[in-house]
Amino acid sequence: MKGNAIEVSKLFKRFGNVKAVDGISFNVKEGEIFGFLGPNGAGKTTTISMITTILTPTSGTIKVYGTDVTHEKDAARRLIGIVFQDPSLDDELTGWENLDFHARLYGVKENKREIIENVLKLVGLEDSAKRQVKTYSGGMKRRLEIARGFIHKPKILFLDEPTLGLDPQTRRKIWDYVTRLNKEEGLTIMLTTHYLDEADMLCDRIAIIDHGKIIKTGTSDELKRSLGGDVVRVGVEKKKELIRAVKGKPFIKKVKESDDGVEITASDGSKVIPIITKIADSKGITITYATIKRPSLEDVFIRLTGRNIREEGADSTTAWRRMGMRARR
Ligand SMILES: Nc1ncnc2c1ncn2[C@@H]1O[C@H](COP(=O)(O)OP(=O)(O)OP(=O)(O)O)[C@@H](O)[C@H]1O
Ligand SMILES: [Mg+2]
Repeated sequence: MKGNAIEVSKLFKRFGNVKAVDGISFNVKEGEIFGFLGPNGAGKTTTISMITTILTPTSGTIKVYGTDVTHEKDAARRLIGIVFQDPSLDDELTGWENLDFHARLYGVKENKREIIENVLKLVGLEDSAKRQVKTYSGGMKRRLEIARGFIHKPKILFLDEPTLGLDPQTRRKIWDYVTRLNKEEGLTIMLTTHYLDEADMLCDRIAIIDHGKIIKTGTSDELKRSLGGDVVRVGVEKKKELIRAVKGKPFIKKVKESDDGVEITASDGSKVIPIITKIADSKGITITYATIKRPSLEDVFIRLTGRNIREEGADSTTAWRRMGMRARR
C-alpha cells in the first residue's frame, strides 16, 4: 500500500477580507498525478504556495511525506520541486547555466553534469542547452522550467498552470514530459490548471476548487459519473418491446424512446451495453447500433458551480494583480 505524499487539513489563508483558501482538506497519494482544477482566483496558487513553504497559512496543517511544512521548512523544501505560474528563468543565461545555477542553489554536487544532461534530455532540450534563454520559444522555456524543478530530485513536483498560454501541440508535449516524469522517474505530481482537458488527460485524481473551497474530489470518471450517469443510445425498431424488457432492471436509471430507438441513463454505460444486447437477443429484438455519451468535466463543473469555468469577470482582483506583475517585469 502506498502512503500519502501530501496531507492537507483544514487549511485557511486570508488576505485582509479575502478568503483565498477557505478551509480545505485533501490528500495526495504517493506516485499519483493530482490536479487542482478551478477558475481564475479560485485559490490554486495560494494553496500551492502554502504547501511549498512560500506562504504561511492563516491556519491549518500541511504534511509532505510526514514532514510538517510550517515547522520544518528546510526538510520539506528538499522534498519539493516547483514550477511557478509566472516564468522565473534568467533570460540572459543559457539553458544549461539556468540549470547549473539551480543545482548549486540546492547543493547538488555529485554527478551534477550527468543530472543536468539527463533532465535536459527528458524535456527534449539537449540541443538548445548552450543558447541564451531569451532565444527560446514559450514552450521551450516552460520545458526548461520543468527540468529545473526536477534537478535536485524532489519527491514531489508542483506545477502551477504548466501549459498556460501555450499552443495545442506544445501543450501536448508538456503533457508527455509530465507523464514521463511521473511514470519513469516515479515522481508524485500536483498541478493546477483551469484547462478541463488537461485535468482530464493527465490527472489520476482531480479536486475541483472554487472560491477557496474544494467542491468535489475524485477520478475524472467518478466526477463524471456523479452527474447521474452515461446516456446510452440504442438503435432499434421495436422500441416499446425493448423498453418493456429492460425497464426496472437494477442497472438502469431511466429509459425512454428516442427518434430512432431507445435512450437509457445508466451509471456506467460500458457495462450496460452488453446486458441490453443480451436481453434484446433473447427477445428476438434487433439492435442496429449503440453509443455512449459520457458527461464531460465541463458538464461537471457547470453542474457544481452553476457557471462555466472560463466565465470572465468572476474576480477582477486577480486580473489586476496579474497585470501588475506583468508590468513590473
Ligand atoms: N498576495 C495577495 N494579496 C491579496 N490578495 C491575494 C494575494 N494573493 C492572492 N490573492 C487573492 O486570493 C484569491 C486566490 O488567488 P490565487 O492566485 O490563489 O488564485 P488562482 O486559483 O491561482 O487563480 P489563477 O487561475 O488566476 O492563477 C484571489 O481572490 C486573489 O485576488
Ligand atoms: Mg494561480
